[in-house]
Amino acid sequence: MPSAIPRPNIQFHDLHPTLADFRHEAVAGLRQRPRRIPPKFFYDERGSQLFDAITATAEYYPTRSEMEILETRAGEIAECIGTGSLLVEPGGGSCAKVRILLGGLEPVAYVPMDISRDHLHAAAQELAAEFPWLEVHAAHADFTQQMELPPGAPEGPRVAFFPGSSIGNFDPDAAVDFIAAVAELVGPGGFLLIGVDLRKDKAVLDAAYDDAAGATAAFNLNLLERMNRELEADFDLDAWAHRAGFNEPLGRVEMHLLSLRDQQVRVAGEVFDFSAGETIHTENSYKYRIEEFQDLARRAGMDSVGAWTDRKGMFSVHLLRNMAAGGA
Ligand code: AVI
Repeated sequence: MPSAIPRPNIQFHDLHPTLADFRHEAVAGLRQRPRRIPPKFFYDERGSQLFDAITATAEYYPTRSEMEILETRAGEIAECIGTGSLLVEPGGGSCAKVRILLGGLEPVAYVPMDISRDHLHAAAQELAAEFPWLEVHAAHADFTQQMELPPGAPEGPRVAFFPGSSIGNFDPDAAVDFIAAVAELVGPGGFLLIGVDLRKDKAVLDAAYDDAAGATAAFNLNLLERMNRELEADFDLDAWAHRAGFNEPLGRVEMHLLSLRDQQVRVAGEVFDFSAGETIHTENSYKYRIEEFQDLARRAGMDSVGAWTDRKGMFSVHLLRNMAAGGA
């Protein structure tokens, strides 16, 4: 049970992130051609619940496959990294997968960073209660804008953890920039342990992003409901459909919201005309071959120390190291 009483092994830091402006970015994205809304806006409270529902569907393999890799390889990973590091998790608001690593890594402290403050606080409290020996510094921050440690975080060789194949939601050039920022954060000799979804058969990917129970469709359509709730929009949910599929030449699964008829929609006081068949592009999820991702990491200044896959070869976890001069 989460404890309401702050524990002695936890500190909260507010790095005062500039909050993403849903109104501004949604309206700007809807004015563009093709129309697009960034995937970060999926994750309101309802969207986060729907994402959890996706991870429980039979078709969405990434979460289960990554857990299998972490569970079977935790010892090996800890041997490569060693104990006593400062473990940082950008976007680690749920503090979930890190539990598998803590026993082997015995970090000097754990720093989850997340934009969603309440979610982060509750999860960090629970983790600190479960691991009383672990110093936790929970930082309310937007790691895409500010990749910095909270003041007072202890010194130690730095290791970043970025699971879930969230790197796939960045376009490749942005992924390189993100990994370069992590390389700078961990410094020479520092590590990045990162989950990366693998390229595979189109049929498997299409199903993973369009499950039979409709969890992914609900997740995508929630963006329209969110605009109705928060931006005085009047989307008619019956006039829109979820569309997702693997774009093989571009190596990414694309998610779109498809307008089923010609229609006018008001969003934040502005009227938008949509024709039948037109879409709003809501997400890319890039899939990489092992070597392809290692090349991308190298462009960001990080070399491969290890790469592991699950038994079925669906997903990969990479251990990368900043090999810049000065490293241990
Ligand atoms: C969070 N991210 C890595 C998920 C993905 O697979 O790209 C988001 C998601 N979109 C649809 N299903 C899951």
